[in-house]
Amino acid sequence: MLRKALLAAAASERIRGLLTTAPAANAVVSRYVAGESIQDALAVARALRSDGLLVSLDYLGEDTTDAQRAAATAAQYVHLLGRLADEGLSEGGAVEVSVKPTAIGLRLSPAGPGVPGERIAAEHLERIAVAAREAGTTVTVDAEDHLTTDATLRIATGLRARRRSDGSGSVGSVVQAALRRTEADVRELAAPGVRVRLCKGAYAEPLAEAFTARHDIDRSFARCLRTLMAGPGYPMIATHDPRLIAITRSLGLGRSPDSFEYQMLYGVRPDEQRRLAESGARVRVYVPYGGDWYRYLVRRLAERPANLALFLRSLGSSS
Ligand code: FDA
Repeated sequence: MLRKALLAAAASERIRGLLTTAPAANAVVSRYVAGESIQDALAVARALRSDGLLVSLDYLGEDTTDAQRAAATAAQYVHLLGRLADEGLSEGGAVEVSVKPTAIGLRLSPAGPGVPGERIAAEHLERIAVAAREAGTTVTVDAEDHLTTDATLRIATGLRARRRSDGSGSVGSVVQAALRRTEADVRELAAPGVRVRLCKGAYAEPLAEAFTARHDIDRSFARCLRTLMAGPGYPMIATHDPRLIAITRSLGLGRSPDSFEYQMLYGVRPDEQRRLAESGARVRVYVPYGGDWYRYLVRRLAERPANLALFLRSLGSSS
């Protein structure tokens, strides 16, 4: 309930103004976000690589209704991938990128007959995927609220089908255990070579579309996990939940350690990230950067009310 209320309250311009201008915001933001610039992102990526961790960089932003902004976001990714290649960071997929479809146009109203947001987002994503392939790395298409799921999966599947002919298969999909449809999606996605990130889901969804009780989401996660780990694809298990990590570890005993990976967010359980990597597992850290951090931060605070309490207390003491 609290999580849902927080996610809903986050839409208020007043709350946004308060949170983004409060001096105390900086400390909380810097726990979860690498910084505003590409240099900040590269510095964090380098540091994580030197600890033996893999990285996925996310340029913050979402829900754009401005076509130029969508194009600029795609251009930022292409530039970033060039920088990663120059520094040798993207080699072998060590540092890849994660992209939100609504940041590159999925929610744009039609720009003209026959040019809906889905096509614009698909074209931008293709540009990013080509840059990723040239940099020797991959792209993962983030999952957003359930209204975007069909289009998001279609865009990624379409790109994979086109790119299969050149053997790259570099576009990965994300599924959310909270959505009722996800078990069926996972059965389709568990195909040879397909990279699938499984996460719980960070959006407030209607009951008709999603499980809302924690134990129902966890059970759905475990079922999807079993399907992915038994399949011929490349599972990317994105959770900080110790129980689900333990299940992944035991299912992983039947696979080679390089045929799947764990994924965690920058700033969340960093010791566990290193511990898993030291045990020989592939571990990737999702690292967001950029100035548009507000909604990303709210989702992180909503996941852990203790963080929110800390944040509100520091706001109180700074005013
Ligand atoms: P859960 O929320 O139950 O947390 C388990 C434990 O982890 C907590 O008890 C706490 O110790 C720690 N923890 C979790 N969140 C924390 C936080 N914010 N701060 C501090 N500690 C925290 N979602 C989505 O809808 N679309 C997407 O594309 C992605 N992509 C994505 C990539 C990666 C790499 C990760 C790890 C996660 C996502 N997510 C996502 C977010 C995901 O859906 C989910 O909201 C969070 O991962 C939290 O869920 P957990 O599985 O960690 O479990």
